[in-house]
Amino acid sequence: MSDILINKLKSYDRTVNCMPDKSMSVRAVLFNAYATGEAVVKNLLLSDDVLSAVDCARRLGAKIDIDGTTARIAGSPFSGAVLDCGNSGTTARLLIGLLSGLNGTYTIDGDASLRSRPMKRVIEPLRSMGARITDTDGRLPVTVVGSALSGTSYQMPIASAQVKSALMLAGLNASGRVTVTEPSKSRDHTENMLREMNAAVTVDGNTVSIEPGIIYARSMTVPGDISSAAYPICLALAVKGGHCLVKNVGINPTRTGIIDLLRSIGANIEYKNAVMSAEPVADVEVRQGKLAPFIIEGGLVPRLIDEIPVLCALACFIDGVSVVKDAKELKVKETDRISSTVAALRALGADIEPTDDGMIIRGGKQLRFGTVDSMLDHRIAMSAAVAGAAGAGVNIIDADCASVSYPKFYGEVIGV
Ligand code: S3P
Repeated sequence: MSDILINKLKSYDRTVNCMPDKSMSVRAVLFNAYATGEAVVKNLLLSDDVLSAVDCARRLGAKIDIDGTTARIAGSPFSGAVLDCGNSGTTARLLIGLLSGLNGTYTIDGDASLRSRPMKRVIEPLRSMGARITDTDGRLPVTVVGSALSGTSYQMPIASAQVKSALMLAGLNASGRVTVTEPSKSRDHTENMLREMNAAVTVDGNTVSIEPGIIYARSMTVPGDISSAAYPICLALAVKGGHCLVKNVGINPTRTGIIDLLRSIGANIEYKNAVMSAEPVADVEVRQGKLAPFIIEGGLVPRLIDEIPVLCALACFIDGVSVVKDAKELKVKETDRISSTVAALRALGADIEPTDDGMIIRGGKQLRFGTVDSMLDHRIAMSAAVAGAAGAGVNIIDADCASVSYPKFYGEVIGV
């Protein structure tokens, strides 16, 4: 891992081709690896997390050829494997669900960060369906011995696309319908993709149902990742006179909490060349202007959960008090993102205070140069880069962990 030095930017005017979506890339790989038939996936994100999903899919028996950003994936029946999910929580949790109802014994592990993250949230509802799963104190490594699963109706205590997706995937091989209800709606890429692959998925408000059945490989083009677009968007809003155009951004409404929030505080954000479908895309143009402070709470939280660190970085440049609450989930991301966001921004002189379920930022104070430890969390590294570039510069330790979701981030977004 290496460090990076970022100087204060005097101005910001950039056109960026959006990085392909990480959530959809992981799903496209795993679902097609399991499905019957062959698919071509274009604009696949080749980041560390997606490469972990590709490695798992290959170990499970799928044949995957990658040429540029196009992957040709030929599925195969799975019969047992030892799997390393690296840093990818989505890969681990979705695989635990998918493999629970298949033949074979599967060991699922990951890096030190992933080993510290809770897996009980998927394991317990799966066990109630009949899954045979051995865990390590509720965490990885986990062993799944495929078994017969029953249908279920499960009320999720928290909104989580990973938990919902794990149960839906288990439902493909259950003996009856699986119904999952969330307290508020999380990203719905699994619903959209499985439906395209022939699964019988129905959605009613925050409740999703899936019938057991076969899924067929489906060729697709992955849209850009709004979570990656968040960095140039927030940087353009934080630098005086800033402007950016991010091309080909996925604007699925379950992911556009950041756009809704920024528009509500006065941001000038336009969609151009929008193409509507279940996974709509548009070019997103942003111009800096006066912003009011924000409150992030309630049902908005799952619609922008991964963007909270960079929104806190932006809040440092907005006069007044911005608040994040109802966001305890931040504590179980790649790092505890309440404490890692607070530590990163405090190192740059920000007035930010942690709370039990979020943070409070008193913005408008001049930032100073400082050193930020990314703690190997890609979103902390990139958020520190935004705060430093718009503030007074930053030295980021282990900056290259950005490659988990955004290879070439520093060159393409910051221009270093
Ligand atoms: C993801 C869901 C979210 C998000 C993560 C990716 C997904 O996690 O934070 O980065 O691809 O389903 P949770 O489902 O745990 O909220």
